[in-house]
Amino acid sequence: MARTAVIGGNWKMNLDFEAAMELASGLRNRLGSHRGAASIVFPAFPYLRPVSKRLSECNISVGAQDLHVEAKGAFTGAVSATMIKSIGVTHVLVGHSERRAVFGDDDALVARKLTVALDAGLVPTLCIGETQSERESGDTFAVLQRQLDSALRAHTAAALDSLIVAYEPVWAIGTGLTATPEQAQEVHAWVRAHVSALLGPSFADALPIQYGGSVKPTNAAALLAQPDIDGALVGGASLKAESFTEIVRAA
Ligand code: 13P
Repeated sequence: MARTAVIGGNWKMNLDFEAAMELASGLRNRLGSHRGAASIVFPAFPYLRPVSKRLSECNISVGAQDLHVEAKGAFTGAVSATMIKSIGVTHVLVGHSERRAVFGDDDALVARKLTVALDAGLVPTLCIGETQSERESGDTFAVLQRQLDSALRAHTAAALDSLIVAYEPVWAIGTGLTATPEQAQEVHAWVRAHVSALLGPSFADALPIQYGGSVKPTNAAALLAQPDIDGALVGGASLKAESFTEIVRAA
């Protein structure tokens, strides 16, 4: 089945305000009327509203990098799904490996975040991936299975209709080490088969599964040519309008 490619740009905790707005303008100019792959950018919280205004009426969506599970109240420093939704932002990352490793988001919390995002009507990208040592000890599929089962088992296929999954091997993030297209394809095919077992073949067949981890203009086309790789979640190379545009055009 032909799935529309989706390219995400995770800006992480980078760029001052001026540089973020400049990047948004650069993307608007290059991709504003692009008709191929869909794109989503994930700026830091303070830039969400101005970036989404700058990208309004163009074909680039805007998402938050995280959300808090509570709706409101005494949670200093936290941002809720309803707050994100109320500023017109449509997408959100859930379970990024940096949230899991640096901030202690465990599978149970990631599962709650996914539920909250879906309940708020945000389009979630669920990030999964194994560390280097998990891969070396042959645990890649066991880790991915645990992450997927924990996040998805509470939901029906209908409730997960908007879901995007991003496979991001932790050892490939920000390291310059990319999974080979064959390595990534092997995992993507496994993820699709496992999702099929959980939620049915038609859901799995339509599910966009992105690859993330040192995706660059030079390696994007070969990764995206694989049958089960439906897009990319890009960190470093999303911070320049030229390189992000090249990746979107490669899709
Ligand atoms: P890099 O592209 O910088 O490796 O980051 C990938 C990533 O974590 C995207 O979410």
